[in-house]
Amino acid sequence: MVIPCKMEAKGVSIFLTWGGSVKGIILAGGLGSRLYPLNMVVSKQLLPVYNKPLIYYPLTTLMLAGVHDILIITTPQDQPLFQRLLKDGSQWGIQLSYATQSHPGGTVEAILIGASFIGDQPVALILGDNIFYGEGMPGILKESSRLITGGLILAYYVKDPRQYGVVTFDSNEQVLDIEEKPERPRSNWAMTGLFFYASDVVEIAKEVRPSPRGELEITDVNKYYMQQRALKLRLLGRGNAWFDTGTHESMLEAANYVATVERRQGLMIACPEEIAYVMGYIDAAQLEKLIVSYRKNAYGDYLHRLHASGRR
Ligand code: TTP
Repeated sequence: MVIPCKMEAKGVSIFLTWGGSVKGIILAGGLGSRLYPLNMVVSKQLLPVYNKPLIYYPLTTLMLAGVHDILIITTPQDQPLFQRLLKDGSQWGIQLSYATQSHPGGTVEAILIGASFIGDQPVALILGDNIFYGEGMPGILKESSRLITGGLILAYYVKDPRQYGVVTFDSNEQVLDIEEKPERPRSNWAMTGLFFYASDVVEIAKEVRPSPRGELEITDVNKYYMQQRALKLRLLGRGNAWFDTGTHESMLEAANYVATVERRQGLMIACPEEIAYVMGYIDAAQLEKLIVSYRKNAYGDYLHRLHASGRR
């Protein structure tokens, strides 16, 4: 539970163009027990979704939001593997740092682990198994990252929301309630695993107490902002896709989706080299250097075509 008395009351959310840098945190720890035995020796977030490791998807979501400075939270045993794959991020013009979570104590722990990393900056927090894609997504992400006070959640319309945090809201899209995994959902809008917060989220996170299932739940943080009327909601419309790849079925669905779109269009989803280049984080010479590692495969051919076309 959040105890609001220690907190300074916040007003209605204000969104302005903000010149500072938004920090990013990817939660890539957890047990992933629903995927056992698939991930018993390697983290869920390193498993493939079609042609890329799962973590590329949330990582590029943050890159598209304009986030350069990202903390990746993993289990202690998996950390060296993530470091081998992603390095310090400079190859993609971003800065990656790493922290560990020894026990999956819940999403709010990411904020506590990342407290000094967040400092006095706003932060975008993304679950390491979430995939976002769709027309207009980069614009939505950039706009969301301009938040300077309060919090922002994104919601997605699903047929069966019972396994999610379900958001109810009024005609002004003011959040009225968020219910965790309700048996009788009051709306079809599921809360996704991408959150934007002002830096006061650290103080709010410190007041969260474990839920009956023993985790520090992000819903408590969001409810605190909601009670202060400082929780902004962004609804993702029909033109977007959101996958939470926590089960074998949803992982396969996400992989099939990525494969179908990529094969049809010949354009990649969540390719960090491309996004770094298109966003101007790296230049053509840096892109060319990256291509060398992939010389004789389809991924390398794609980067080669991107480089030759000069498309940005
Ligand atoms: P969940 O899907 O809630 O948990 P999980 O990945 O451990 O899976 P399962 O329920 O099958 O055991 O986690 C969502 C994302 O957040 C996932 O990418 C893992 C990450 N996570 C952490 O990094 N630390 C945590 O303490 C928790 C609960 C999740």
